[in-house]
Amino acid sequence: WLSHEADVAAILELKRCRNAVILAHNYQTPEIFHGVADIVGDSLALARKAAEVDADIILVAGVHFMAETAKLLNPEKTVLISDLNAGCSLAESITPEDIALLRQAHPGVPVVTYVNTSAAVKAASDICCTSGNAKQVVESLGAPKVLMIPDEYLAQNVARETGVEVISWHGHCEVHELFSAQDVRDLREVHPGITILAHPECPPQVVAEADFAGSTAFMTDFVRERKPSRIVLLTECSMSDNIAVNLPDVEFVRPCNLCPHMKRITLAGIREALQWNRHEVTVDPEIAVAARRAVERMLAI
Ligand code: 13P
Ligand code: SF4
Repeated sequence: WLSHEADVAAILELKRCRNAVILAHNYQTPEIFHGVADIVGDSLALARKAAEVDADIILVAGVHFMAETAKLLNPEKTVLISDLNAGCSLAESITPEDIALLRQAHPGVPVVTYVNTSAAVKAASDICCTSGNAKQVVESLGAPKVLMIPDEYLAQNVARETGVEVISWHGHCEVHELFSAQDVRDLREVHPGITILAHPECPPQVVAEADFAGSTAFMTDFVRERKPSRIVLLTECSMSDNIAVNLPDVEFVRPCNLCPHMKRITLAGIREALQWNRHEVTVDPEIAVAARRAVERMLAI
Protein backbone atom coordinates (compact mmCIF):
# COMPACT_ATOMS: atom_id res chain seq x y z
CA TRP A 1 0.00 0.00 0.00
CA LEU A 2 2.87 2.37 0.84
CA SER A 3 4.04 2.22 -2.76
CA HIS A 4 0.64 3.60 -3.78
CA GLU A 5 0.47 6.34 -1.17
CA ALA A 6 1.97 9.14 -3.31
CA ASP A 7 -0.28 8.37 -6.30
CA VAL A 8 -3.39 8.16 -4.11
CA ALA A 9 -2.63 11.51 -2.44
CA ALA A 10 -1.95 13.17 -5.80
CA ILE A 11 -5.14 11.77 -7.33
CA LEU A 12 -7.28 12.94 -4.41
CA GLU A 13 -5.82 16.44 -4.77
CA LEU A 14 -6.28 16.47 -8.57
CA LYS A 15 -9.91 15.38 -8.18
CA ARG A 16 -10.52 18.30 -5.82
CA CYS A 17 -8.76 20.92 -7.95
CA ARG A 18 -10.28 19.78 -11.22
CA ASN A 19 -13.80 19.01 -9.90
CA ALA A 20 -13.49 15.41 -11.14
CA VAL A 21 -15.11 12.18 -10.04
CA ILE A 22 -13.82 8.66 -10.60
CA LEU A 23 -16.25 5.92 -11.61
CA ALA A 24 -14.64 2.52 -11.07
CA HIS A 25 -15.83 -0.89 -12.16
CA ASN A 26 -15.80 -3.79 -9.70
CA TYR A 27 -12.86 -5.36 -11.61
CA GLN A 28 -10.49 -2.53 -10.80
CA THR A 29 -7.64 -3.32 -8.41
CA PRO A 30 -8.22 -2.61 -4.68
CA GLU A 31 -5.94 0.44 -4.61
CA ILE A 32 -8.16 2.05 -7.26
CA PHE A 33 -11.45 0.63 -5.98
CA HIS A 34 -10.86 1.47 -2.31
CA GLY A 35 -8.22 4.19 -2.66
CA VAL A 36 -9.48 6.76 -5.16
CA ALA A 37 -12.90 5.81 -6.61
CA ASP A 38 -15.95 7.95 -5.82
CA ILE A 39 -18.49 5.58 -7.32
CA VAL A 40 -18.03 1.83 -7.75
CA GLY A 41 -20.30 -0.81 -9.19
CA ASP A 42 -21.29 -3.07 -12.05
CA SER A 43 -21.89 -1.81 -15.59
CA LEU A 44 -25.52 -0.99 -14.82
CA ALA A 45 -24.77 0.97 -11.64
CA LEU A 46 -21.98 2.89 -13.38
CA ALA A 47 -24.31 3.85 -16.24
CA ARG A 48 -27.05 4.92 -13.81
CA LYS A 49 -24.66 6.90 -11.62
CA ALA A 50 -22.96 8.48 -14.65
CA ALA A 51 -26.31 10.03 -15.53
CA GLU A 52 -26.42 11.73 -12.09
CA VAL A 53 -22.83 12.95 -11.75
CA ASP A 54 -22.37 16.60 -10.79
CA ALA A 55 -18.75 17.37 -11.77
CA ASP A 56 -16.82 18.83 -14.69
CA ILE A 57 -14.75 15.73 -15.35
CA ILE A 58 -15.67 12.05 -15.17
CA LEU A 59 -12.71 9.70 -15.16
CA VAL A 60 -13.78 6.13 -15.87
CA ALA A 61 -11.61 3.48 -14.25
CA GLY A 62 -12.84 0.68 -16.44
CA VAL A 63 -12.81 -0.24 -20.10
CA HIS A 64 -13.51 1.90 -23.16
CA PHE A 65 -17.18 1.00 -23.66
CA MET A 66 -17.89 2.11 -20.08
CA ALA A 67 -16.30 5.50 -20.75
CA GLU A 68 -18.31 5.81 -23.97
CA THR A 69 -21.53 5.08 -22.08
CA ALA A 70 -20.63 7.76 -19.52
CA LYS A 71 -20.02 10.21 -22.39
CA LEU A 72 -23.33 9.33 -24.06
CA LEU A 73 -25.11 10.22 -20.83
CA ASN A 74 -22.99 13.36 -20.25
CA PRO A 75 -22.37 14.92 -23.64
CA GLU A 76 -21.41 18.28 -22.11
CA LYS A 77 -18.86 16.87 -19.63
CA THR A 78 -15.26 15.83 -20.15
CA VAL A 79 -14.93 12.04 -19.91
CA LEU A 80 -11.45 10.63 -19.49
CA ILE A 81 -9.96 7.14 -19.62
CA SER A 82 -6.32 6.64 -18.70
CA ASP A 83 -5.67 4.04 -21.43
CA LEU A 84 -7.56 4.14 -24.73
CA ASN A 85 -6.51 0.54 -25.43
CA ALA A 86 -8.54 -0.82 -22.51
CA GLY A 87 -10.92 -2.73 -24.78
CA CYS A 88 -13.10 -5.82 -24.43
CA SER A 89 -13.26 -9.06 -26.42
CA LEU A 90 -17.04 -8.75 -26.62
CA ALA A 91 -16.97 -5.19 -27.96
CA GLU A 92 -14.39 -6.31 -30.55
CA SER A 93 -16.57 -9.16 -31.79
CA ILE A 94 -19.26 -7.21 -33.65
CA THR A 95 -19.74 -4.18 -35.93
CA PRO A 96 -22.81 -2.13 -36.94
CA GLU A 97 -22.59 -3.81 -40.38
CA ASP A 98 -23.01 -7.21 -38.69
CA ILE A 99 -26.20 -5.94 -37.05
CA ALA A 100 -27.53 -4.69 -40.39
CA LEU A 101 -27.02 -8.19 -41.82
CA LEU A 102 -28.69 -9.79 -38.81
CA ARG A 103 -31.69 -7.48 -39.20
CA GLN A 104 -31.91 -8.44 -42.88
CA ALA A 105 -31.86 -12.13 -41.98
CA HIS A 106 -34.41 -11.69 -39.16
CA PRO A 107 -36.79 -8.89 -40.21
CA GLY A 108 -38.85 -7.37 -37.39
CA VAL A 109 -36.94 -9.10 -34.59
CA PRO A 110 -35.84 -6.57 -31.92
CA VAL A 111 -32.10 -6.18 -31.28
CA VAL A 112 -31.00 -6.25 -27.63
CA THR A 113 -27.38 -5.20 -27.30
CA TYR A 114 -25.14 -5.87 -24.34
CA VAL A 115 -23.49 -2.65 -23.10
CA ASN A 116 -20.10 -4.29 -23.76
CA THR A 117 -20.14 -2.85 -27.29
CA SER A 118 -19.06 0.28 -29.13
CA ALA A 119 -21.35 3.31 -29.34
CA ALA A 120 -21.77 2.61 -33.07
CA VAL A 121 -23.11 -0.88 -32.33
CA LYS A 122 -25.42 0.51 -29.65
CA ALA A 123 -26.67 3.05 -32.20
CA ALA A 124 -27.67 0.22 -34.53
CA SER A 125 -29.68 -1.48 -31.76
CA ASP A 126 -33.15 -1.12 -30.29
CA ILE A 127 -32.25 -1.35 -26.62
CA CYS A 128 -29.22 -2.10 -24.44
CA CYS A 129 -28.90 -4.43 -21.48
CA THR A 130 -26.29 -5.37 -18.89
CA SER A 131 -25.79 -8.67 -17.11
CA GLY A 132 -27.75 -7.15 -14.22
CA ASN A 133 -30.95 -6.48 -16.17
CA ALA A 134 -30.78 -8.68 -19.29
CA LYS A 135 -33.75 -10.82 -18.19
CA GLN A 136 -35.96 -7.77 -17.44
CA VAL A 137 -34.95 -6.05 -20.70
CA VAL A 138 -35.80 -9.11 -22.81
CA GLU A 139 -39.09 -9.66 -20.96
CA SER A 140 -40.00 -5.96 -21.31
CA LEU A 141 -40.11 -6.32 -25.09
CA GLY A 142 -42.94 -8.86 -24.97
CA ALA A 143 -41.57 -10.43 -28.17
CA PRO A 144 -41.46 -14.20 -28.77
CA LYS A 145 -38.05 -13.87 -30.40
CA VAL A 146 -35.14 -11.42 -29.89
CA LEU A 147 -31.70 -10.92 -31.32
CA MET A 148 -29.32 -10.70 -28.39
CA ILE A 149 -25.79 -9.66 -29.25
CA PRO A 150 -22.85 -10.09 -28.99
CA ASP A 151 -22.37 -12.49 -26.02
CA GLU A 152 -23.42 -15.98 -27.03
CA TYR A 153 -23.31 -17.34 -23.48
CA LEU A 154 -25.22 -14.46 -21.89
CA ALA A 155 -27.84 -14.90 -24.62
CA GLN A 156 -28.10 -18.64 -23.94
CA ASN A 157 -28.33 -18.04 -20.19
CA VAL A 158 -31.08 -15.46 -20.67
CA ALA A 159 -32.97 -17.71 -23.10
CA ARG A 160 -33.05 -20.42 -20.44
CA GLU A 161 -34.27 -17.97 -17.78
CA THR A 162 -36.97 -16.30 -19.85
CA GLY A 163 -38.21 -18.95 -22.29
CA VAL A 164 -37.90 -16.33 -25.06
CA GLU A 165 -36.32 -17.56 -28.30
CA VAL A 166 -32.95 -15.84 -28.52
CA ILE A 167 -30.82 -15.55 -31.65
CA SER A 168 -27.27 -14.85 -30.55
CA TRP A 169 -23.87 -13.87 -31.95
CA HIS A 170 -20.53 -15.61 -31.47
CA GLY A 171 -18.89 -13.11 -29.12
CA HIS A 172 -17.37 -14.34 -25.86
CA CYS A 173 -15.75 -12.70 -22.85
CA GLU A 174 -12.17 -13.90 -22.84
CA VAL A 175 -12.20 -13.99 -19.03
CA HIS A 176 -15.42 -15.91 -18.41
CA GLU A 177 -15.24 -18.33 -21.33
CA LEU A 178 -12.28 -19.98 -19.57
CA PHE A 179 -14.40 -21.41 -16.74
CA SER A 180 -15.71 -24.94 -17.27
CA ALA A 181 -18.30 -27.19 -15.64
CA GLN A 182 -15.39 -29.42 -14.62
CA ASP A 183 -13.97 -26.47 -12.61
CA VAL A 184 -17.26 -26.31 -10.69
CA ARG A 185 -17.19 -30.07 -9.96
CA ASP A 186 -13.54 -29.93 -8.88
CA LEU A 187 -14.28 -27.04 -6.53
CA ARG A 188 -17.13 -28.95 -4.89
CA GLU A 189 -14.93 -31.99 -4.46
CA VAL A 190 -12.00 -30.10 -2.93
CA HIS A 191 -14.17 -27.72 -0.83
CA PRO A 192 -17.37 -29.56 0.23
CA GLY A 193 -20.17 -27.10 1.04
CA ILE A 194 -18.60 -24.20 -0.86
CA THR A 195 -20.94 -21.60 -2.39
CA ILE A 196 -20.30 -21.07 -6.09
CA LEU A 197 -21.39 -17.91 -7.92
CA ALA A 198 -20.93 -17.56 -11.67
CA HIS A 199 -21.10 -14.50 -13.87
CA PRO A 200 -23.69 -14.88 -16.70
CA GLU A 201 -20.91 -14.38 -19.27
CA CYS A 202 -19.76 -17.90 -18.27
CA PRO A 203 -20.78 -20.83 -20.50
CA PRO A 204 -24.31 -22.13 -19.75
CA GLN A 205 -22.96 -25.43 -18.37
CA VAL A 206 -21.02 -23.46 -15.75
CA VAL A 207 -24.06 -21.38 -14.81
CA ALA A 208 -26.19 -24.55 -14.62
CA GLU A 209 -23.80 -26.20 -12.14
CA ALA A 210 -23.11 -23.08 -10.03
CA ASP A 211 -25.36 -22.23 -7.06
CA PHE A 212 -26.30 -18.78 -8.36
CA ALA A 213 -25.44 -16.54 -11.30
CA GLY A 214 -25.53 -12.78 -11.55
CA SER A 215 -23.75 -9.56 -12.33
CA THR A 216 -20.82 -8.29 -10.29
CA ALA A 217 -23.23 -6.16 -8.22
CA PHE A 218 -25.30 -9.27 -7.51
CA MET A 219 -22.12 -11.00 -6.32
CA THR A 220 -21.22 -8.11 -4.00
CA ASP A 221 -24.71 -7.97 -2.47
CA PHE A 222 -24.89 -11.74 -2.11
CA VAL A 223 -21.60 -12.00 -0.20
CA ARG A 224 -22.27 -8.94 1.98
CA GLU A 225 -25.78 -10.08 2.92
CA ARG A 226 -25.28 -13.83 3.34
CA LYS A 227 -21.67 -13.87 4.51
CA PRO A 228 -21.04 -17.50 3.44
CA SER A 229 -18.09 -19.09 5.25
CA ARG A 230 -16.45 -20.11 1.95
CA ILE A 231 -17.22 -18.89 -1.55
CA VAL A 232 -15.80 -18.83 -5.05
CA LEU A 233 -16.68 -16.12 -7.55
CA LEU A 234 -16.24 -17.43 -11.09
CA THR A 235 -15.24 -14.11 -12.57
CA GLU A 236 -12.38 -11.59 -12.72
CA CYS A 237 -9.83 -11.74 -9.87
CA SER A 238 -10.24 -8.21 -8.46
CA MET A 239 -13.88 -8.99 -7.66
CA SER A 240 -12.94 -11.19 -4.70
CA ASP A 241 -10.02 -8.95 -3.71
CA ASN A 242 -12.30 -5.91 -3.42
CA ILE A 243 -15.07 -7.55 -1.39
CA ALA A 244 -12.64 -9.48 0.80
CA VAL A 245 -11.21 -6.22 2.19
CA ASN A 246 -14.26 -5.69 4.43
CA LEU A 247 -15.18 -9.33 5.06
CA PRO A 248 -12.36 -11.03 6.98
CA ASP A 249 -14.59 -13.94 8.03
CA VAL A 250 -15.44 -15.02 4.49
CA GLU A 251 -12.93 -17.31 2.80
CA PHE A 252 -12.61 -16.51 -0.91
CA VAL A 253 -11.39 -19.51 -2.88
CA ARG A 254 -9.81 -18.96 -6.28
CA PRO A 255 -9.65 -19.79 -9.39
CA CYS A 256 -10.29 -16.49 -11.01
CA ASN A 257 -9.11 -15.00 -14.31
CA LEU A 258 -7.54 -11.61 -14.92
CA CYS A 259 -8.99 -9.28 -17.55
CA PRO A 260 -5.99 -7.81 -19.41
CA HIS A 261 -8.09 -4.84 -20.51
CA MET A 262 -9.26 -3.87 -17.02
CA LYS A 263 -5.68 -4.27 -15.81
CA ARG A 264 -4.44 -1.59 -18.21
CA ILE A 265 -5.90 0.91 -15.76
CA THR A 266 -3.42 1.79 -13.02
CA LEU A 267 -3.08 4.42 -10.30
CA ALA A 268 -0.12 5.99 -12.11
CA GLY A 269 -2.17 6.16 -15.32
CA ILE A 270 -5.13 7.75 -13.52
CA ARG A 271 -2.85 10.33 -11.96
CA GLU A 272 -1.42 11.29 -15.36
CA ALA A 273 -4.84 11.31 -16.98
CA LEU A 274 -6.15 13.84 -14.45
CA GLN A 275 -2.96 15.86 -14.62
CA TRP A 276 -2.80 16.14 -18.41
CA ASN A 277 -6.51 15.84 -19.23
CA ARG A 278 -6.14 12.68 -21.25
CA HIS A 279 -7.43 10.64 -22.91
CA GLU A 280 -10.68 12.33 -23.72
CA VAL A 281 -13.44 9.99 -24.89
CA THR A 282 -15.70 11.41 -27.57
CA VAL A 283 -18.58 9.99 -29.59
CA ASP A 284 -19.62 11.17 -33.05
CA PRO A 285 -22.75 13.31 -32.42
CA GLU A 286 -24.88 11.45 -34.99
CA ILE A 287 -23.99 8.07 -33.53
CA ALA A 288 -24.46 9.46 -30.03
CA VAL A 289 -28.12 10.35 -30.58
CA ALA A 290 -29.12 6.80 -31.53
CA ALA A 291 -26.78 5.13 -29.03
CA ARG A 292 -28.10 7.29 -26.19
CA ARG A 293 -31.64 6.30 -27.12
CA ALA A 294 -30.78 2.59 -26.74
CA VAL A 295 -29.04 3.19 -23.37
CA GLU A 296 -31.81 5.44 -22.02
CA ARG A 297 -34.47 2.94 -23.06
CA MET A 298 -32.64 0.41 -20.91
CA LEU A 299 -32.29 2.80 -17.97
CA ALA A 300 -36.02 3.53 -18.07
CA ILE A 301 -36.82 -0.13 -17.26
P1 13P B 1 -21.04 -6.45 -14.79
O1 13P B 1 -20.18 -5.68 -13.82
O2 13P B 1 -22.10 -5.57 -15.37
O3 13P B 1 -21.58 -7.70 -14.19
O4 13P B 1 -20.14 -6.84 -16.05
C1 13P B 1 -19.03 -7.58 -16.00
C2 13P B 1 -18.08 -7.26 -17.07
O5 13P B 1 -17.49 -8.10 -17.65
C3 13P B 1 -17.79 -5.88 -17.39
O6 13P B 1 -16.77 -5.85 -18.26
FE1 SF4 C 1 -14.72 -7.53 -21.63
FE2 SF4 C 1 -14.67 -9.78 -20.24
FE3 SF4 C 1 -12.85 -7.94 -19.75
FE4 SF4 C 1 -15.40 -7.52 -19.04
S1 SF4 C 1 -14.04 -9.08 -18.23
S2 SF4 C 1 -14.03 -6.07 -20.07
S3 SF4 C 1 -16.47 -8.59 -20.68
S4 SF4 C 1 -13.11 -9.07 -21.67
